[in-house]
This record gives sequence, structure tokens and C-alpha cells, in this order.
Amino acid sequence: MILSKNLNNVYSDIRGDIYMHALELEKQGHKVLKLNTGNPAAFGFKMPDSIKNRIVADAERALGYCDIKGQECARIAIRNYHYSKGLNNITEDDIFIGNGVSEVAYMIITALIGKDDEVLVPAPCYSLWTNLTFLAGGKVGFYQCDELNGWQPDIESIKKGITANTKALVIINPNNPTGVLYSKEILLEIVDMARKNNLVIISDEIYDRLVLDEKQHISIAALADDVTMITMNGLSKSHCICGLRCGWLCISGIEKEKKILRDALVKIASVRLCSNALMQLVIPDALADSAYTEDMISSNGRLSRQRNAVIEELDKIDGISYVKNSAAFYLFPKLNLKAFGLKSDREFAKKLLDEKHILVIPGSGFNCADNDHFRIVMLPEESELRNAIKSIGDFLRNI
Ligand SMILES: Cc1ncc(COP(=O)(O)O)c(C=O)c1O
Repeated sequence: MILSKNLNNVYSDIRGDIYMHALELEKQGHKVLKLNTGNPAAFGFKMPDSIKNRIVADAERALGYCDIKGQECARIAIRNYHYSKGLNNITEDDIFIGNGVSEVAYMIITALIGKDDEVLVPAPCYSLWTNLTFLAGGKVGFYQCDELNGWQPDIESIKKGITANTKALVIINPNNPTGVLYSKEILLEIVDMARKNNLVIISDEIYDRLVLDEKQHISIAALADDVTMITMNGLSKSHCICGLRCGWLCISGIEKEKKILRDALVKIASVRLCSNALMQLVIPDALADSAYTEDMISSNGRLSRQRNAVIEELDKIDGISYVKNSAAFYLFPKLNLKAFGLKSDREFAKKLLDEKHILVIPGSGFNCADNDHFRIVMLPEESELRNAIKSIGDFLRNI
């Protein structure tokens, strides 16, 4: 069997060899704390009543195939949501709904990228964007996010990374794995760079409603009308329904370019007929139900308490430093490998799993330039998280 060469570099550490080892340990009867995925339902987060009620009420209305771009009521609600964030030059026709951001991401990369085309992605990066580029036969270029500057994208590194073949630049804001928000100044510089180099900006904003400390998320597409941008969003995280699969993309920019992309995406979307029709019908109620998400992120909400617990416990461990996150479910600490006599983040993650039965993903799994970070998923309840970080401290002290 000869498989496609495009598969050669496709890999996700989130479900990679260390994760497989965790499953083995579970089979042997060990209880493993799996901090590898941002999957709130696995940690007791319940779906909002607004969504549950709509699913029950509308099940019969969602049995047929529907509009390949997505049901109109849902696209209008999405349009209004993005209007409220300053994306003024979009209509419901510029919106495509899919089975999660993952599917619409696949659609836009398929539309833009062919053999030898390049996509510039952040390092560290959630692996969706590298993998989709490889699957399309394209090449991945990395720009660095600078830990010393709060993990903001490094503009010089973006400049250096642009080649004659670069077609798109991906930003993940708020970011996975660092959990930081990008500043307006940096976003404006990225817009400028895309404008000068005729790049499409793809902005993955799936965590935009999960912002802590009363900070504000800025959608890059709200900063310019003349640059083609694809804004990605969905309900997996803000409404804790990852398994129900509901995401969308929104095209903004100059109408001529928007039309070219709309036509391409209609072709691609029609290959898969439509996305889950029932999940589209929940979108208007879900987006109107901001209280559900606000409850998680308020200063005493579950996500804020869990984040605070993580950093309080990390502060007690010598040899670990971190940039305080203000969004999403993630923190990306740095290990002083030398002090612990460790060779790499991967060695750390493997040993931690074997000794303490805690699964974390090493930073190298996110294409972090240095191999001395790991990602913490801050979804378990506060007390469980405190115990987990204390165990990491014990492990490092006794290594
Ligand atoms: C940055 C980022 N984008 C996209 C996704 C996938 O989202 P969805 O569940 O909508 O496919 C994730 C999931 O963890 C993510 O972290």
C-alpha cells in the first residue's frame, strides 16, 4: 500500500505516542489525569440549557440536508455576532458553517493551498494548521511568538518567514497553547504585513469569548476592510460542546476577493453536502446566551479560579517560569531542564506520566522552537488542579 506523501508530516502530539502510553496505563488499571485536550465536557462542564432546549425543540426540523453554507437563521446570528465585534463589511453570505472549526479550517486550506504553496503559522502552534497544510500538499513556514514579549507574534520573524510562495498567514488569538491575547499594535502590524505581501489572514478565534481578567479580545478583521481575512469561530469551547461539532468561518475584505473565496468554498462545502443541521439551529440561542460563558470567566467563575489555582501552585516550584495567560484553557510553562537534569520536554512528559500518572503535552508537540515547555490544560476542578501541580512539583524536586 503506498499512501499519499501528503501524510508524511501529519502528526498531533495531543493524541500521539505519549497519549497512547497513557491509554495503556489506564488499561493496566491506573487512574491517569489527562491534561492533553481542551475538552471541557470531560471535566464536568455541562451544556447550557439554551442549547439543550433548542436541541429538544428542533430535532424534527433538522432531519434533512440543509443549505450547504449553513441555515440562514444561524448565519444571520453569526453575522450579528461578528458585527458586534466590529466586522462591518460582512453579510450572511460570507459565512460558512461546518462541523467544528476543524472542518471549516480544512475547507479554507483546501481552497487556498496546493503543492508548494506556503502557509505561515505561529510557533508554538495548535497542530490543526500545520496538519491541514501538509494534507493539502503545501509547505509550512513558522514565525516565532516571543515569550519575552508575552508570547506576542514576533513581527521580524513574520517578515523573514514570508516567501514568494506564502499565500496565507495564520494567527491563533486567543492562543493555544500559550493562552495569551494579542495586542492591537501587533495585530495592526500583521495587517500591514499581509497588505504589503498580498496574504490572506486566517484568524482562529475559537477562544474569543473565554477571556479572563476583564480583558478585551480584538478581532483582527475589525482592523481593516481592504485585506482578505478569514475569521474562524465556533461553540466547542465557549459553550462546552466540543462533541456536538459546531463552527464557522467568516470572509471579510474586498468584495472581488471575497467572491472568489465564496465560490471556491461553495464547491468544497457541497462535496460534504452540509454540516450537522441541528447544531446549526442552536447557534442563534447559543450566541444570545452570553451569560453562560460570562459565568465561567467572571472573577469568581470556574475558569478564573482554576487559572489562579494553577499559577499559585506553579509559583511554589523552583525551575518553572511562565507567562500569565488571560484566555482559553491553557498555560505554557517553561522548565529549567538543566536544573532538573532533564534532556527535553518530551523526557519530562514521559517520566511525569510514568511516575505521577499525569498526562501533559510537551511544547515541542506544538512546534515550539525550544524543547523546554509543556502545556497545562486548566479544566479540572480547582482542588484536582492544585494536587496535579503539587505532584509536578514533587516529581521535579525528586527527579
Ligand atoms: C486553536 C484551536 N482551533 C480549533 C480547534 C478545533 O475546534 P473545533 O472543535 O471547533 O473543531 C481547537 C481545539 O482545541 C483549537 O484549540
